[in-house]
Amino acid sequence: MRAVGLTRTGGPEVLEVLDLPEPEAADALVIETAAAAVNPVDLATRSGLIPTSLPAVLGWDLAGTVAHAPAGSGFRTGDRVLAMTAQLGTGVGSMAEYVAFDPGFVAHVPDGLKLEEAAALPLAGVTATQLLRRTPDRAGKRILLIGAQGGVGAHLAARLLDEPSTRTDLLVRPSDLPVWQEQRAGRPGEGAVLADPAQVGTGAYDIVIDAGGVPALFDAVRPQGAFLTITPFSAPDPAARPEVAYTLIGVELDRDDLVSVAEAAARGIAPRQELTVLPFEDAAEAHRRLERGGFRGKLLLVP
Ligand SMILES: NC(=O)c1ccc[n+]([C@@H]2O[C@H](COP(=O)([O-])OP(=O)(O)OC[C@H]3O[C@@H](n4cnc5c(N)ncnc54)[C@H](OP(=O)(O)O)[C@@H]3O)[C@@H](O)[C@H]2O)c1
Repeated sequence: MRAVGLTRTGGPEVLEVLDLPEPEAADALVIETAAAAVNPVDLATRSGLIPTSLPAVLGWDLAGTVAHAPAGSGFRTGDRVLAMTAQLGTGVGSMAEYVAFDPGFVAHVPDGLKLEEAAALPLAGVTATQLLRRTPDRAGKRILLIGAQGGVGAHLAARLLDEPSTRTDLLVRPSDLPVWQEQRAGRPGEGAVLADPAQVGTGAYDIVIDAGGVPALFDAVRPQGAFLTITPFSAPDPAARPEVAYTLIGVELDRDDLVSVAEAAARGIAPRQELTVLPFEDAAEAHRRLERGGFRGKLLLVP
């Protein structure tokens, strides 16, 4: 079978379409991949920024149909499913024609959601879900969301802008301002859309959520406030402000979260992101587009 992987780390040119044996079925649920999303972690793994064992197949997200279902798994051949793999921990990447999963980490794709739409959801949606669980007490709080237009940021914005009792300001790039001002208008929660970090007031927020990697805005949170980041390579030093409750999120595989993200998307509570679909052979081009910065929506690779 074909799979997007690498035998050495480096620039996008190290990506290859490898010819690998199909996974052993046995007790695993085998999914025939329809689409696998590209995420920043794939770029960091390919470049060697995050160490990985080689050869490696890349990819954390996928959606497809069940090719083999073990007895008692709750799935049947042909079921439409989405799944997330912690590629760095398991060594199992999603960018292969067939991928074997523990059925406990696979969810059905709800009716009304296309497989390509589902493939864009797992890592970004589950990360956003787990981050929001770490800030349960948001009512009445003033929140800054940095990078609302990004993969994870857009999931966070989709949820926060519907909370009438919080005031969430969004920080986006200047070119994203018109789109996000329009998205902001008419939503129940209050708040502004900012496009310049200089507009962000020092100590002005109860909660700062950094989904863009802007450590200088650690100052935006008030003393005894909370700062949550998902970007370990561009995170502030928590020791610089010990009076702030600091959280670095590390996403965890969780089937319930995957189910809730998929069901929310089917109900329309998810970012309306443009999907760009490329074949496995164009994986290097996909990485170049993301690495350049300024890419919007989700990029999917299809076998
Ligand atoms: N800890 C975890 O478990 C976890 C899970 C998922 C993702 N992550 C990490 O979290 C980060 C975001 O992931 P993602 O999938 O959301 O990536 P993404 O789609 O690239 O989103 C990041 C967004 O932040 C924006 N941004 C950067 N600097 C900004 C600034 N000064 N002002 C406004 N916006 C700014 C980027 O805009 P430009 O494109 O214009 O630069 C981009 O739209 C990545 O580093 C990823 O590896 C971590």
